[in-house]
Amino acid sequence: MTADTPSSELLNELILLASRSPSPHNTQPWSPRIADGAIEVSIVPGRTLPAGDPTFRDVIMSLGAWIESCAIGAAEKGYAVDVEVLPALSELDSLPVAGPADATRPVFRITVSPSDAPANSAGPPPFTADDVRARCVYRGKLEGKPDVFAYIESLQLPPWLQVRSLDDGAMKQLSTLGIAFTASRATVANELLHWLRLDPRHPRYHRDGMTDAMLVMPRPLARIAAPFTRKARLRDPLVAVAGPLARFLEGLGRDATLPPALTDEAGAPTHHVLVANSRAAGIDDILSVTEAMDSRIGVTEPHALEAGRILQRLWLHAHRQGLAISPHSELIDSPAAHGALRKRLGLARSDVALSVFSAGVPQTQHVPRSPRLTDLAR
Ligand SMILES: Cc1cc2nc3c(=O)[nH]c(=O)nc-3n(C[C@H](O)[C@H](O)[C@H](O)COP(=O)(O)O)c2cc1C
Repeated sequence: MTADTPSSELLNELILLASRSPSPHNTQPWSPRIADGAIEVSIVPGRTLPAGDPTFRDVIMSLGAWIESCAIGAAEKGYAVDVEVLPALSELDSLPVAGPADATRPVFRITVSPSDAPANSAGPPPFTADDVRARCVYRGKLEGKPDVFAYIESLQLPPWLQVRSLDDGAMKQLSTLGIAFTASRATVANELLHWLRLDPRHPRYHRDGMTDAMLVMPRPLARIAAPFTRKARLRDPLVAVAGPLARFLEGLGRDATLPPALTDEAGAPTHHVLVANSRAAGIDDILSVTEAMDSRIGVTEPHALEAGRILQRLWLHAHRQGLAISPHSELIDSPAAHGALRKRLGLARSDVALSVFSAGVPQTQHVPRSPRLTDLAR
């Protein structure tokens, strides 16, 4: 080990910090290990969402957020990260649908080395490990701050990514349509219920998934609903009854026209869409436009990974201003909502919506914290 080689203590510290990254349903699909002085990360098949996220879009974006958190922690300690994307990232279709990570098939490798970049005195101060630890999603009432993403030059978005605004009226209607889609597909609904922890007595309440507190659910309602998330004999009939009803609502929503895009009401949360242009993404680098079209996400997996890094920077940017994020992937997952979203934003065929989220100041004194597998044993 030379003086420049990062200690395993530092690498473990970065892994712990990165575990605070966001992930769909708080699944934490990453499995990091230290190998030959670098950090290798594999995907845990049992922590992916085969029904809700069949293209791995959200899994890959969360891995991108993981990389960004790691890079922020390293920079704070005077180190830079070099990310090598490995072939397994573009072969996720061969992953099993359950089970542990395969350490012989990492999807990327991070090498940490002393940084020779001069401290940048211009622009806002860089994000810190404390920002990564404190950032969180809030699904309760948010009060919007319209210019939250007005000045994002410092976030260094690549030319193929942009942040578009969505009006509140369209957001409300399309979110309802997206939720109806989730509820009407038994496999997607069951998968969501599997990741809910509505009672502190749930064995994984302090480990992963989404708790009643995170969902801002009133306690009595959570207590009534909790058994339905854990017992298949209760859950299956519930999903079976909810399905046709949700499908009926989805049918109504699909045929409804969107309200005119008026100026949002004062105080309404603002809504944002991270859009990638697959054509522009193919021009500047790594892989060709054809490969983007082959990928079921609409951009190549390495591009989705890069977009996840940007997503984390956007959410940290909001956090720095005292705002929280409330993601709404249902607008992309539901084909009907997705189609209407594309129309509303006037997206071109080569544009791909990768993430939809609201932003605003949480109207509460206490934003609940999400658990992590790496939290100290209770
Ligand atoms: C790519 C991605 C998509 C997500 N989509 C949703 C979503 O549709 N709805 C939602 O409530 N949360 C969504 N989340 C947020 C996660 O549920 C959240 O990050 C996780 O529960 C951990 O909580 P925290 O971010 O507050 O630490 C998403 C997160 C990521 C990274």
